[in-house]
This record gives sequence, C-alpha cells and structure tokens, in this order.
Amino acid sequence: MGVPFIESLADIKRWNSAKHLSKDELELGLIRCLAQIDANMSVFGNGQFPTPATTNGLYGVMGNDEWTNGFWTGQLWLAYELTGEFRYRTLAETNVESFLERVERRHELDHHDLGFLYTPSCVAAFKVCGSEKGRRAAILAADQLMTRWQGRGRFFQAWGPMDSPNHYRIIIDCLLNVPLLHWASDVTGDPTYAACARDHFMTTCAHIIRADGSAFHTFYMDPTTGGPDHGATRQGYSDDSAWARGQAWGIDGIPINIRHTGMSGYRDYARSMRNYYLNRLPEDSVCYWDLVFGDGSGQPRDSSAAAIAACGFAEMASQETGEEERTIDEGALAITLRSLINNYTNDGPEPGAPILRHGVYSWHSRKGVDEGNLWGDYFFLEAIARKLITWNPYW
Ligand code: GLY
Repeated sequence: MGVPFIESLADIKRWNSAKHLSKDELELGLIRCLAQIDANMSVFGNGQFPTPATTNGLYGVMGNDEWTNGFWTGQLWLAYELTGEFRYRTLAETNVESFLERVERRHELDHHDLGFLYTPSCVAAFKVCGSEKGRRAAILAADQLMTRWQGRGRFFQAWGPMDSPNHYRIIIDCLLNVPLLHWASDVTGDPTYAACARDHFMTTCAHIIRADGSAFHTFYMDPTTGGPDHGATRQGYSDDSAWARGQAWGIDGIPINIRHTGMSGYRDYARSMRNYYLNRLPEDSVCYWDLVFGDGSGQPRDSSAAAIAACGFAEMASQETGEEERTIDEGALAITLRSLINNYTNDGPEPGAPILRHGVYSWHSRKGVDEGNLWGDYFFLEAIARKLITWNPYW
C-alpha cells in the first residue's frame, strides 16, 4: 500500500489557534499526578505492582507478571526526573531488580511486549542514572524480543507460538516495543537489533495503515509467502473500525520510529493518522474507545488513548520542519492535555486509585471498561514531562 491519504482537518482553526498550555495548568496536572503516585507508593511497594486496570476505581496488587508492569516503574522514573526526590528513584531501582529477575527467568515473556515492559523501567533506569542492572535487564529483554522475529514477512510476531499460522500477524501497538531494539544496538554496537526494528516499522506502515489514514489493530501475513494477507481487530469494535488506542499507538509510534531510523519520508503516515483521529474527536477532545463512536453514542471514552496521542503530538512537533504542521501538533497537544487535566484527573488522591479516570482496556472481554489503567497514567505524566522539562525520551 502507498502513502495513505491525508484528510483535511475539518476544523483547522480549533487546532491552530489553540491557547498554549500555561505553566500553572501543567503544574496543576503534575501536582495531581504526584499526589496520586505518592498515595500509590503506600500500596505498591517492594515486589508489588498494580494490576493493568482498576476495578471499581482501584488497582489490585499483583506480582511482576503482566505486560503492563513497566508503566508503574516508568511513572516513578518520571516523578524522579520531575522532582529530584530520591524516594521515587529508590522504589524504581527496587523494581528494576524485579525486572532483571523476571527476564533471567523468562517469566511470562513469550510475547512481543518486551518494549512496554523494559523501556520505561530498565532503559529509563540506564538513561536516568546509568543503572548497570537496568542495562543488563534491557539487553536481555531485547534478546527475548528478537526471538519473535519472523524473517518471512519481516516483522515481530505479537502473540502465540512462532510456528502457528493462526498467529502470523503484527499489531500496531508493537511500534512502541521496537524502540527497545534501537537502544540495544546503540549500547551494544550490534546493528542487528536496529535493522530488524527498522524492517518491522516498514512492514507495519505498509500494511496496517489503511488508505484513509485509519489503522487495523492487527494484520495477518501469509506464512508461506510472507506477503500481506488481511487486517483484523482484537480490541477494536470491528475489523473495519479504528480502535482509538491503536490509532494512538500509531500517532506516537510512527514519529518515535522516524527519530530512530531517520526515515523522515514516513511523516506523512503520521500526519494521515493524526488527521483521521482529530477529525473524529468529540466535543471535549478525548476520544471514545473506538473512533466509530461519537457524542451521543453512550459508549465509554478511552482517556489512555488520548494520553498516548498527546505524547505523539509532542513527538511530531519536535520533528516538524514547517511552522504550519508544528502549530497543529502543538494545538492538538494543548487541547488534549488541557481536557485530560481538567476533566479526567482525580483532585483528591486515594491509595490504589488511577491518575486518569475513564479509560478502556478491553471492551470485548469487559476488562477495565470506564476504569483507569497504568499506561494511561504513565503517558499522561510523560506528556506533562515533555512540556515541563527537557526530557530525554525513554522510547
Ligand atoms: N498493547 C495492548 C493494549 O493497548 O491494550
């Protein structure tokens, strides 16, 4: 498939005349994040992690066994970077030991989510304070991700046994897993990791993004030829709808991969996904869980998709060479973040509660519907960090 069509923005003035976020607005967001993280540190201490999503507004306690554990540790690293307070770093470093132990045992790691797990926890530990344990754990995680490589088709297989034709597919979320491999090439000097990451990025853009700028959640490849087969959803409303979080993974993942590969020709893919997303936002600019839904649908929103998209707008803005596109990115970031701060955060922290309310984990399996989730909390704080400090991306 060629470069997707870039829709014109239906209400371009909404984005390019948006009021910039003030320091006071960002600090209000930060204060709410830190208050909630502080409250949660009393619940999720040594070796204990929050569940992926809340139930009745509260995270449960679990071990380091899910694809989401990195986001709690990532919040601690961001809090440390934003405040300089050592208590955040101390707990983050304790968690890094748990991540090292997990990858040495290969515990619950037979999937592609190594980047989600090891980037905001262990790559962050290395980048923020030179942690040797973080470095070792993240390299082992990169090696584990390499076991998911399918040379025929040139992609990382998301889930399931590697010899199963029923699992021969990519998913758009993986654009945030492969930056781990670029980091691994940088620190080891071995170009193999980065070469596979680049090819996976190209395969994803070629097949998973539809001609209109929306994305399939997943895309099956033909195991015999390695050629494209068909798109399908797992978490979206239907195979041909645009799952909001998938669209957001693309909006953030494409520019991150451009930063690593230098392949600036892919910017139009990101703009195409961005415009499709912005044209389908409701009044308060926080998407419903699938972009097929709008105001009046009675469906829940996914605040986590909005937080991920906000980081994508910031990443795109940091790379734009033209004023016009950068103004749209900055406007989309300001409007999204303002709405999240004002309408989706808790103003009174409670132990075990999320930072952001009203996310959706998996509508079909009725998990975390209209609840908080860890990645929403993490990316919301990352978006604030991107505006408040000079932040060296973990991804
Ligand atoms: N990567 C899984 C999800 O976004 O739910």
